[in-house]
Amino acid sequence: MEIRTNYSVKNLNSFSIDAETKYFIEINSEKDIYDFINTEKFKNEELIILGGGNNILFTKNFSGIILHPNIKSISIEFENSDYAIVKAGAAEDWDSFVEWTVNQNFAGIENLSSIPGTVGASPVQNIGAYGVEVKDLITKIDAFNLETGELKTFSNNECNFSYRNSIFKEKFKNKYLITYVYFKLYKNPEFKIHYGDIKNELLKYKELNLKSLRQAIINIRDSKLPKPEKIPNAGSFFKNPIVNKSKFKKLKAEFPEIVSYKIDEYNFKLAAGWLIDFLGWKGKVIGNAGVHDKQALVLINKNNASGLEIIDLAHEIKKSVFDKFGIDLEFEVNIV
Ligand code: EPU
Repeated sequence: MEIRTNYSVKNLNSFSIDAETKYFIEINSEKDIYDFINTEKFKNEELIILGGGNNILFTKNFSGIILHPNIKSISIEFENSDYAIVKAGAAEDWDSFVEWTVNQNFAGIENLSSIPGTVGASPVQNIGAYGVEVKDLITKIDAFNLETGELKTFSNNECNFSYRNSIFKEKFKNKYLITYVYFKLYKNPEFKIHYGDIKNELLKYKELNLKSLRQAIINIRDSKLPKPEKIPNAGSFFKNPIVNKSKFKKLKAEFPEIVSYKIDEYNFKLAAGWLIDFLGWKGKVIGNAGVHDKQALVLINKNNASGLEIIDLAHEIKKSVFDKFGIDLEFEVNIV
């Protein structure tokens, strides 16, 4: 295992925040996991597991351990005429993995094209886009308990998946190190093209297939979401809030244009981007932090912002949404 001390995380987080961690440890094998668990001086340190660092905001130096899994490989575990079970290592780049599945003609995660991050991080916050959530394709997950060293296989059910959430973000946050994720992918695609601009974008292509759908998704994302390499950001900063029917009716009467999706008879999801945009935040800059000019849900690091500048802006937006709509937005990004 490779251990670095007082290590800068600037290149390890998509917000490009310059902070330090007391220890940075790369896990390359199962042996590294046991070595880590058996090292006495690490026992009482606070711990963060960091994949690609695409969903984290450092607001200060971290006086504990950042564990970075570096386990790679993609293999087909089982295959029949209907589907394949694919096993992918936690450190595989998410979008390269999606590209691989599309090239194999395995369907299921093509709508999740171009999401920054790693395979191992994908179940933690149950990444989702364009009508698909990764939980719909995951069959099981291998993970090591970082206290006991025990290897546990989590069934899909045991992961407690919900909108942008799982057991790995709640009860077992930083308690289990995910090593492999297993996906069930289909040979006869059921294309999901009803969300937003997909149908329109697809008009540019002769044929609807996994490759054209993936390209359409990439184009839509490129037009709205900034690339972290160019404009540091962590995707949606807030979750889309869910409100009950009576609250929804009141809001709809007052703000007829409000963007919403019916979840069931009693609950509605609102587009937080619309709420924030309505209040005039889109494109606003405060100090070195800003709101992206094409998607109000995305906060950006304009010019070497500190994590505090970004979190201050987030709190101002949160307050203004609360004052106007009576909705308490939740952060989607993990705050350190
Ligand atoms: N909208 C505005 N102004 C804005 C942003 C959005 O009016 O500044 C409106 C749009 O016109 C649209 C609606 O809000 O009617 C929804 O916008 P969009 O389709 O861009 O999706 P979103 O709900 O803002 C969610 C995910 C994204 C994901 C997209 C596409 C969350 C928190 N975010 O955003 O995920 O890519 O849907 O499926 O659920 C992420 O999690 O980091 C992320 C980027």
